[in-house]
Amino acid sequence: MKKIILVGYMGSGKSTIGKVLSENVGIPFYDLDEIIEKHENMSVKKIFERKGEVYFRKLEHLLLNAFIDENEHFVLALGGGTPCYANNHEVLKREDILSFYLKTSVEILSERLKLEKEARPLIANFNDEQLTDYINKHLFDRNYYYFQSKHTIDCALKNKEEIILDIKALLA
Ligand code: S3P
Repeated sequence: MKKIILVGYMGSGKSTIGKVLSENVGIPFYDLDEIIEKHENMSVKKIFERKGEVYFRKLEHLLLNAFIDENEHFVLALGGGTPCYANNHEVLKREDILSFYLKTSVEILSERLKLEKEARPLIANFNDEQLTDYINKHLFDRNYYYFQSKHTIDCALKNKEEIILDIKALLA
């Protein structure tokens, strides 16, 4: 049984790393945002707009717990906010879960998210300067939850292959 969970801020590479890791270790990849979108038949952005963030957070909590209990082998990328609501961070410490925080710098997150903020309701309306300020503060608040992960991978100076190697070394 291998239940691997990837945690990190929006743009930290959870899905990208998760997919490659999943191929490397032969365990299927899932993305919690996609699980939520399939359940609602609606994009995350639309769920925020039409039903509100509280609805999204409740659903995120329910679907996260159901998924973990119903599946034996997985690499699961959480949403950036998942560990920060509804005591979801407790999941990261569970005995049957291997959790990894993909930690990276505000500068890198800012550069990436400038280019891909449209689909992300929390940051879609910020200009570049507002975005950097927001990430700076938000990451500071969220780090407490992210650091509840069993392992922290410092990704700022590493390429994809190095990050995967670091994670694999901790899976043995
Ligand atoms: C969120 C991150 C998003 C998605 C939603 C809220 C957050 O996931 O769950 O837009 O609160 O940070 P990604 O981290 O995959 O972008």
